[in-house]
Amino acid sequence: MLRRELLAIAALSVLPSVASAQDSVKIGLILPMTGQQASTGKQIDAAVKLYLAQKGTTVAGKKIEVILKDDTSVPDVTKRLAQELVVNDKVAVLAGFGITPSAMATAPIATQAKVPEVVMAAGTSSITEASPFVVRTSFTLAQSSVPMAEWAARNGIKKVITLVSDYGPGIDAEKSFSDKFKADGGTIVENLRIPMRSPDFAPVLQKAADAKPDALFVFVPSGTGAQFVKQFIERGLDKSGVKLIATGDVTDDDQLNGMGDAVVGVINAHNYSAAHDSAANKAYVEAFKKANGGLRPNFMSVGGWDGMELIYGALKKTNGDTNGEKLVAAMKGMAWESPRGPISIDPDTRDIVQNIYIRKVEKKDGELYNVEFATIPNVKDPVKAAKK
Ligand code: PHB
Repeated sequence: MLRRELLAIAALSVLPSVASAQDSVKIGLILPMTGQQASTGKQIDAAVKLYLAQKGTTVAGKKIEVILKDDTSVPDVTKRLAQELVVNDKVAVLAGFGITPSAMATAPIATQAKVPEVVMAAGTSSITEASPFVVRTSFTLAQSSVPMAEWAARNGIKKVITLVSDYGPGIDAEKSFSDKFKADGGTIVENLRIPMRSPDFAPVLQKAADAKPDALFVFVPSGTGAQFVKQFIERGLDKSGVKLIATGDVTDDDQLNGMGDAVVGVINAHNYSAAHDSAANKAYVEAFKKANGGLRPNFMSVGGWDGMELIYGALKKTNGDTNGEKLVAAMKGMAWESPRGPISIDPDTRDIVQNIYIRKVEKKDGELYNVEFATIPNVKDPVKAAKK
């Protein structure tokens, strides 16, 4: 080699590193930005943008590029978008997934392409078993339903009707609540289900009103709670003596203020409240609202925020290596403080371990909040724990 060429190579190596195409890491973010689950898409997109704004877009010398796609919460669309992101855009990570069927539809692609699938929203227990490349930063329905059942049994509630959306997370909520409540001495009067798409609550609410249980336990997916509560009130159930208990998906921070005073006093269990009392959460809520015209962050948003923390943390550990197997290995066992409280990734199941809080809807400074009054620490997914 000529001396001149050697000098040129030497000069190149001391140039400040400018991110080239090869140096960028692409994240394919698939979310329902329109349609019934649009609030989930909006919340997670906002959290991801806030994360990038606060933490910067360079990790381990690599430039992070997020490619956002709207799957309209139609799983066939999710799958096609995931395929295109892997094949055409060469993304290193697939992320998002507003509903269980979308996360499930993507799992075979993650396996085949050996690309991590970071589930930021969906909550059916079995999702993490659909591919060894799935890692979850959201929650499982059993995580909140079991503590809710335990609280109900300990607090004078003897007869319960369950009412859930008729698909993965609803069926998990129904089963895990019912099993625990019965084991603790309670009676399940009936298990009612309603379609996930365009639900009409009137017939099932009439049944619940006629049967007069002590409480109605409800799960509907984020974005549907306000519609449910409206019909609950219209049927007069709020004044019937039937207590409403729920997973926090129903008393969603995104919609809670619009539900009205009828939900004051509703007890529910969940992983995140905008009113969670920590310095990290206060800073998160303030920054999120500021960046989004006053919008209050909900539990979906923290799934997105922590999904980014997971991806950034894994890239730091691999020193920027985007090999899918290395990234998943780096994600296992990661632990950090989320706006929701301390969380970690179970190294055996790749599922999230987090505190579950029992909360009561209260009015504070003219606004409705889920106010946490009890904490069940470090809850692993009870469905997977039971299989062991
Ligand atoms: C789900 O489809 O897994 C899902 C969606 C919204 C929720 C919970 C679970 O609030």
